[in-house]
Amino acid sequence: MLDELFDLLKIPSVSADPVYAEDINKSAEFIKEKMRKIGLENISIEKTPGYPIVYAEKIIDSNLPTILIYGHYDVQPPDPIELWKSDPFNPVIRSTEIHPDGAIFARGASDDKGQMYMHLIVAEFLLKNRQLPVNIKFMIEGEEEIGSPSLKWYIERNHDKLKNDLIIISDTGMIANDTPAITTGLRGLSYVEVEITGPNRDLHSGLYGGAVANPINILTKMIARLHDEKNQISIPRFYNKVIELDKNQRDEIAKIPFDLKKYKKALEIDDVYGEDGYTTIERESIRPSLDVNGIWGGYIGDGAKTIIPSKAHAKISMRLVPNQDPDEIPILFEKYFMSIAPKGVRVKVTNLHGGYPYVTPTDNVGYRATALAMKESFGKEPLSVYSGGSIPIVPLFEKELKSKSILMGFGLNSDAIHSPNEHYGVFNFFKGIETISYFYKYYHQLNQKS
Ligand code: BES
Ligand code: MN
Ligand code: MN
Repeated sequence: MLDELFDLLKIPSVSADPVYAEDINKSAEFIKEKMRKIGLENISIEKTPGYPIVYAEKIIDSNLPTILIYGHYDVQPPDPIELWKSDPFNPVIRSTEIHPDGAIFARGASDDKGQMYMHLIVAEFLLKNRQLPVNIKFMIEGEEEIGSPSLKWYIERNHDKLKNDLIIISDTGMIANDTPAITTGLRGLSYVEVEITGPNRDLHSGLYGGAVANPINILTKMIARLHDEKNQISIPRFYNKVIELDKNQRDEIAKIPFDLKKYKKALEIDDVYGEDGYTTIERESIRPSLDVNGIWGGYIGDGAKTIIPSKAHAKISMRLVPNQDPDEIPILFEKYFMSIAPKGVRVKVTNLHGGYPYVTPTDNVGYRATALAMKESFGKEPLSVYSGGSIPIVPLFEKELKSKSILMGFGLNSDAIHSPNEHYGVFNFFKGIETISYFYKYYHQLNQKS
């Protein structure tokens, strides 16, 4: 099983960079071939305006419920590559403090090839042993890491094909290897790029310095004005729709095990930082946030070049919580950002992509079956947690297909997803396989009872 996963991890299916377009297709082919070997049917690599979606199904009885399994085969860019201890696309197993039994080090090991592959392995065994108790459909996409730009297009055109009773996704994490969790909340996202233009060309910073607006000076000043002294976001009306949790809900969150010392050590930071009046768990899950993801402009080569640059740029992401609207937030952002720009520069704001926040219900068969499955495999009831990450497809599924998603993730925060040295515990891989198998058993049992 690990060898097969390794072969998939070796394909650098980076969706953000067109240089890897061929590898995206290779990944899709690889998954298609696996689906064929294990006996799934109606398999196809579905063309979209962007990268393809791999679809397959096994309908054993149209009277039985249907589970749709979603995952993604694309990965984040590996950069900065020099910080990897081993080649991001040549997986190796090394043990770590948290993973004494070893972890698979490779881009995509945890997010999401490793987690997605667990589902194919479980399907393989259930099909081989004729034990599949429900119908299954797989939908594995290749654009998740760039905001799933083609998914709406695809889902709108394939309502019937994708019809299901429940969606399951393994693309999130747990609290620790002895503390399973089901993610019941995801933050939404608004992602914008800004461009500040000053003079129409780079100017001599001696001849003009002090007399002409420097777009980098201006941009950094403007960015500084996006938060106030309490670390709240200063954009007017940004918080208008935010649902504030009541004391009971906050008390529930406070019960989630959290060790500040370990947290700081894992990230090698001296202290945490964030909005006044909220705990770290709250700051990274139930509160919105705004982060500059990248900033560039001017001269960054060796030595010194004395210029006032013509342009400055930044990429800015905002994580949203219920009921914030990713279509409205960029408009509020742009309005505010324009309003704080001084005369002498031009501002351009581009809305790159977005997604709605999501909270899953816990009073349904899918959630209960997952909780029972985790209890059996881990020997412990899972906790329900809100995650700070985003999977924009989840609210889209709900809107388009009216189906709920269960986020049964087996990663850990320490997996370093999107970072150098991403890894996924060998324990987590096999525990995931075990849990997913039990999930089918309990889901079938609970459905028969109800
Ligand atoms: N799998 C992650 C999201 C995630 C990770 C949620 C851990 C909860 C816990 C997903 O691949 C991801 O990175 N999503 C992006 C979405 C964006 C590109 C639209 C994100 O959250 O930045
Ligand atoms: Mn993912
Ligand atoms: Mn990701």
